[in-house]
Amino acid sequence: MNKNEALLRIQELSKILHYHNNLYYQKDTSEISDFEFDTLLAELIALEKQFPEYLTTDSPSQRVGGTITKEFASVTHKYPMLSLSNTYSESEIREFDERVKKSVGAVEYVCEMKFDGVAMSLTYMNGILSHAVTRGDGVRGDDVTHNIKTIKSIPLKIQTDNIPAEFEVRGEVYLPYEMFERINQEREDIGEAPLANPRNAASGTVKMQDSGVVAKRSLDCFIYSLLQDSTTQPTHSAALKQLKEWGFRVSDSYKVCSSVDEIIEYINHWSEARFNLPLATDGIVIKVNDLHLQAELGMTAKSPRWAIAYKFKAEEASTPIISVEYQVGRTGAVTPVANLKPVHLAGTTVKRATLHNANEIERLDLHEGDTVFVEKGGEIIPKITRVDLSKRIPNSKTIEFLKNCPICSSHLIRIEGEAAWYCPNDKGCAPQITGKIEHFIQRKAMNIDGIGSETIELLYKKELIKNVADLYTLTYDQLINLDRFGEKSVTNVLNGIEASKQTPFKSVLFAIGIRYVGATVAEKLAVHFKNIESLQHASEEALLQAPEIGIKIAQSIREWFSIEDNIQLINKLKESGVKLELSEGEIIKQESDIFSGKSFVISGVFEKYERDELKEIIIKNGGKISSGITGKLDYLVAGDNMGPAKLEKAQKLNIKIISEAEFETLLNA
Ligand code: IVH
Repeated sequence: MNKNEALLRIQELSKILHYHNNLYYQKDTSEISDFEFDTLLAELIALEKQFPEYLTTDSPSQRVGGTITKEFASVTHKYPMLSLSNTYSESEIREFDERVKKSVGAVEYVCEMKFDGVAMSLTYMNGILSHAVTRGDGVRGDDVTHNIKTIKSIPLKIQTDNIPAEFEVRGEVYLPYEMFERINQEREDIGEAPLANPRNAASGTVKMQDSGVVAKRSLDCFIYSLLQDSTTQPTHSAALKQLKEWGFRVSDSYKVCSSVDEIIEYINHWSEARFNLPLATDGIVIKVNDLHLQAELGMTAKSPRWAIAYKFKAEEASTPIISVEYQVGRTGAVTPVANLKPVHLAGTTVKRATLHNANEIERLDLHEGDTVFVEKGGEIIPKITRVDLSKRIPNSKTIEFLKNCPICSSHLIRIEGEAAWYCPNDKGCAPQITGKIEHFIQRKAMNIDGIGSETIELLYKKELIKNVADLYTLTYDQLINLDRFGEKSVTNVLNGIEASKQTPFKSVLFAIGIRYVGATVAEKLAVHFKNIESLQHASEEALLQAPEIGIKIAQSIREWFSIEDNIQLINKLKESGVKLELSEGEIIKQESDIFSGKSFVISGVFEKYERDELKEIIIKNGGKISSGITGKLDYLVAGDNMGPAKLEKAQKLNIKIISEAEFETLLNA
């Protein structure tokens, strides 16, 4: 291909990809499959690599990230990014309305949800996204354009004509609940403290240095205002419509209201309905609709006079701390937990709250016997927000984080860059040992029936097991002599252990508990390396070649296999007959390409197949499993008891919904 041809093809591909992206993210429909889209994108990326002079900043290839930013450039906002004054009551809203009326007469308002993420300013020059800047101190913010380009609902280029030469939009970048929960599940799998809330997770993600990692986190953005030197729209609601037409994602939750009563109605409705939205919200924003009146009302030093935020009350209660105890996890991380005098809060009784780590105790400046406020935002686990200083006991001592392990007294250590303190005694500290065994037997890992945490503790106490390999040497005679063990329970335990030898390699790999190797990563590793020996001997470079394996995971794997005890553990497991390689059947052999380019979601319970069996059949026949229902999905295979929300979404997006029988027909076609 010569240069001219390359340029033409790059332009053509960009146009096609922009079109399909817009269709998918703004109109929730699609005309081509994921596979076709990815193929076109791959062609574009390859051409841009070969002809870098034709790579443009608005190329659809920029969505995949990959740019590493060491330091974000500081940018001065053309229009300062103000904040809103907050209210918490109906009477304050009435006062706001009175103030507005007094200045400019009766007005119409727009009520919107107050999205709880990170404020972002996006500048478009000639229809192309040129800068994405954080709020910063309101005057200057950080240029995070590379990261923001990975958000697929933000247009890199406006596709319609008659676009103003320059304009700015503001919106809230957020991490959808679903993604937030997935990240936390993965962190839990690998023994890491969960992220506190979606807002922190979003702001942390926006400031990541590697935009490739940002791309994987699937941030999203709701746009809520349009700024121009001279307004072309009469009202804010007209501007929102315009934004939507230009391809921005604008939440449909806004409403034009002409009286305070209507505003209150809106609040009452959304204070419950907000939990059905895909993201966290912490209030509503009330804005004067007429843009000329907005200008007339102007602003104070900090916030506009034409808008106000009504914040949902986080339910709060105050209660004394009875004690702080420390839990040692399987990784040795020591977590402080506050035992509280039981208190009723948002429908449940709260008795305990995590204090996360030493930094949190310091932040709260916690003293013995302090009364604390616990808060539940409705969506997040209870959290201690602050101390009620008026109730502090005079001369009470500050609570100091432990210096030694509460179980084995080893001196605690801190790993650079981590908030947790660790007990380094992984061979002698009971909860680390039993914790590793509990992790091993859990359902997602070896799935050993008949054993629970209590049994493990008992077996460990009786010195019958000290690592996971010892499970496989347990005998009938050893178990039958234990308290509470009858013939039946012994048989159950032994059968469960025996059956676990059939557990697939990927689950074994997760079960052995290498740091950062959660269930998903373990599966990727198993498929890529096929057996434990190749994984054990893989260099860091070789590990980095595997899909989705980054430096942190690679190093952790190298470290795990550098420890002699771990090698011995693997050898013992191998001798016991635990699967440390993919079985014949698991090395996925292509049977056909009948589903090539087709994506599937499987949901519900089926008569003939397990869900995993269906997935395997799809992959073996060239198809792909998608993680969620989107406009690009080809088929939803629906079994019994599937969630109504999923079904409704699929129907709305016109996805083909097929039964188990229809799936078989498709397969045999
Ligand atoms: S309008 C003058 N609309 O709330 C500020 N802000 O305290 C005008 N926010 O930093 C902002 N949802 O990040 C507006 N629908 C919405 C919003 C919203 C969330 C955030 C925004 C801003 C903060 C203001």
